[in-house]
Amino acid sequence: MNLIFLGAPGAGKGTQAEIVCDKLGIPAISTGNMLREAVKNGTPAGLAAKECMEKGDLVPDDVVIGILKDRIAQDDCKNGFILDGFPRTVEQAEALDKMGVSIDKVIEISVPDQKIISRLSGRRVCEGCGASYHLDFKPTKVEGVCDSCGAKVVQRVDDKPETVLSRLETYREKTAPLKDYYQNKGKLVTVNGQEEIAETSKLTLAAIEG
Ligand code: AP5
Repeated sequence: MNLIFLGAPGAGKGTQAEIVCDKLGIPAISTGNMLREAVKNGTPAGLAAKECMEKGDLVPDDVVIGILKDRIAQDDCKNGFILDGFPRTVEQAEALDKMGVSIDKVIEISVPDQKIISRLSGRRVCEGCGASYHLDFKPTKVEGVCDSCGAKVVQRVDDKPETVLSRLETYREKTAPLKDYYQNKGKLVTVNGQEEIAETSKLTLAAIEG
């Protein structure tokens, strides 16, 4: 099963992708995580992406499409995958179509802006393994320390309030048109992402299975 999780920054795509991929036994592919890794390792893609990511802009389509194409060609994607954060422009969606990738469902996780801002201001991520937490909704067992690998847990550079507003604007302008793109193909299902994490997972799984 090939799925896309669509939604504004902080809607909970990564959180749900992590839960659902365990249940379905398919990998979750986050272009955001791959780009952050590329920036950390100073690869050519990382160098091209760094400044855009820090400002809350999108990374150029050709850079992201290249990374995604290589990733879905890997063996673990043979039985399907969840795309978290891709496509983010109509051009990226068209590139996916041209690759011959057939998408079964696009799950839009819908959350109002006010909630998004509180979620992103409280989000903390592990510097080591990238695991994601929230100060109130998903705290680490020991403050500031990752439950999974023990590394330090920090705020993402693009989760600063001024950058969050710019990411929301970019989402509205460049990514929200994908709702119509997939609605017209009969693939879009919208899930209410305002519930608690476990409740949202139930709604998401029901939308996938329904
Ligand atoms: P990316 O990493 O993809 O960021 P994003 O889409 O902005 O999404 P987030 O990771 O911020 O949010 P999320 O929806 O996954 O929410 P999460 O589950 O963490 O991209 C970063 C940057 O990379 C982009 O700005 C761009 O520059 C670049 N990029 C990436 N892909 C690209 C592409 N395809 N094209 C071009 N550029 C690209 O949840 C947020 C917080 O809320 C967490 O703390 C979580 O614990 C909490 N939470 C989640 N669900 C709930 C709930 N139900 N109740 C309470 N708390 C919750």
